[in-house]
Amino acid sequence: MSNKHTFVMIKPDGVERGDVGNIISRFENKGLELQNMKLMHISRDLAKKHYQEHKEKPFFNELIDYITSGPVIVMIWEGENAISAVRFLMGATDPQKAEPGSIRGDMALSITKNIVHGSDSEESAQREINLFFK
Ligand code: PPS
Repeated sequence: MSNKHTFVMIKPDGVERGDVGNIISRFENKGLELQNMKLMHISRDLAKKHYQEHKEKPFFNELIDYITSGPVIVMIWEGENAISAVRFLMGATDPQKAEPGSIRGDMALSITKNIVHGSDSEESAQREINLFFK
């Protein structure tokens, strides 16, 4: 695995609002290639594994409740510098600080319901791809 592959999740609010096509188009327009995709409802167990680095944070329970509240889309995207390209397109974690033109800047209001997740490093990408696709 390298910076050529990254893991992306469209969170429950993105799926519920019907923003899946719009978000996928932004990645495709950038030149990234969709390698794998599925719709799933995450169990609490899987959600806790995915967000294990945040388990001591005060927002952890809220995050697990939210991410398991409805179906999500999980994807593997491929392309040169895919990890940083996806994070740039998503914008800052807090939508109030995300640039206009980014996914979160244009489409989200809340730091919990921030519509999309993308791996933050090669190690996370590998771990998250293994967690959701193997
Ligand atoms: S941190 O706090 O710097 O480690 O945050 P970060 O690594 O950027 O991502 C935190 C993920 O938890 C989600 N989340 C929140 N973050 C901060 N504050 C609150 N209250 C909060 N609630 C939920 C946030 O959306 C990030 O999710 P992902 O899926 O990783 O983008």
